[in-house]
Amino acid sequence: MQKLVITGGKPLIGKVKISGAKNAALAILCAALLAEEEVTIDNIPDINDVRVMLELINFVGADAKWLDKDTVRIKPPVAKGPTPPYRLSKKLRASNLMLGPILARFGEAEIPLPGGCNIGIRPMDLHFKGFVEMGAVVSMEKGCVRATCKKLVGTRIYLDFPSVGATENLMIAACLATGKTLLENVAKEPEIVDLANFLNCMGAKVRGAGTDVIHIEGVSRLGGCQRYSVIPDRIEAGTFMVAAAATRGDVELENVILRHLEPLRAKLQEAGAEVIEYEDNIRVIASGELKSIDIKTLPYPGFPTDMQSQMMAMLATIPGTSLITENIFENRYQVVDELKRMGAKIKVEGRIAIIQGTECLHGTQVKATDLRAGAALVVAALMAKGTTEISNTEYIYRGYHELEKKLVSLGAQIITK
Ligand code: UD1
Repeated sequence: MQKLVITGGKPLIGKVKISGAKNAALAILCAALLAEEEVTIDNIPDINDVRVMLELINFVGADAKWLDKDTVRIKPPVAKGPTPPYRLSKKLRASNLMLGPILARFGEAEIPLPGGCNIGIRPMDLHFKGFVEMGAVVSMEKGCVRATCKKLVGTRIYLDFPSVGATENLMIAACLATGKTLLENVAKEPEIVDLANFLNCMGAKVRGAGTDVIHIEGVSRLGGCQRYSVIPDRIEAGTFMVAAAATRGDVELENVILRHLEPLRAKLQEAGAEVIEYEDNIRVIASGELKSIDIKTLPYPGFPTDMQSQMMAMLATIPGTSLITENIFENRYQVVDELKRMGAKIKVEGRIAIIQGTECLHGTQVKATDLRAGAALVVAALMAKGTTEISNTEYIYRGYHELEKKLVSLGAQIITK
């Protein structure tokens, strides 16, 4: 895999268009397995995770094809297909979202336990608890999860934690269950709302997505959906916003939903960056000195865990002490060692990272340890004196469409090697 070689020190300036949301697209592609007719989905980002997901859904009997650079057409399977192979499912966590639709549609589903970024234990107990409460039998054999049912039955399910994946899997499955399902204490992320809108576009009856409680009235079948457009990626947008502020640049982002970026806007403004909101665009300007801030990651609408590492890179060069508390994933500080190699002064105590701002970072050789850690290293390299060589870039390409091309258009000095 190619390395990214970034010579830092230049402010990012210009306009950049944000792609469709990775996490919404992955859930929506899985949900298409519920349908009985064709679906066409726009604004799908052409990134590695999406390509793997398309391979997975084709493996289980769908016929998914790119119609153009960001549109995918899916003919759903007519019968239950084979179990997807571990070589594919280990590549992304969201492969676990195939369980709900295949189980609900065919009464039987088997998937190898998923992989994905190594940022925590990431169990699936909440998904399983929900399926069992809907009448399924769930068992684990030789690294595979197997779930069976005659027909899922709608019920009331309380999630002990508002897990994004569990909310999605259960919401998808409940669309074809008999009767009504009430999902309580669910995740409220924008990707959940997008998924619900897509399900409704196929004929499902989902209400309340975006609040703590989702009501789903099961239907006997779902048709297709002639055209659905995925929301913009708030984490890609957030990464560019932080990179703009960190390099003391001036960047306007196109194709964003401002409301989804609220927590980030608030924190960047608290740090002293200027954030200007237009109708569909947002502009981040930072010229003078920025201030240290504290951040706590929380489920939406709290500060997103997926933006924590990029913020850490920025805070590494802001005078004073900043604190980050990571409340979602217990192993999300692997980037710290890499940032320290670039001169950052960061100490981790349990879930808290203490960042002592240093005047500047220095380019060196570093490796991405997960997707957002990779993005954080890109932000750090853009600020650093000298040249940084980032390896393990396959993590970065999992989630960012044409990252280096977009950054180069903003004036960054990047080559691949
Ligand atoms: C999704 C996102 C990921 C984001 C995360 C939190 C996708 C493809 N990925 O991941 O980018 O960082 O939401 O916003 O959408 N948990 C349990 N039991 C379960 C499920 C989860 O204990 O059955 C715990 C996890 O270990 C974690 C927390 O809940 O500590 C949040 O996980 P969850 O919201 O499920 O994240 P993902 O859906 O895996």
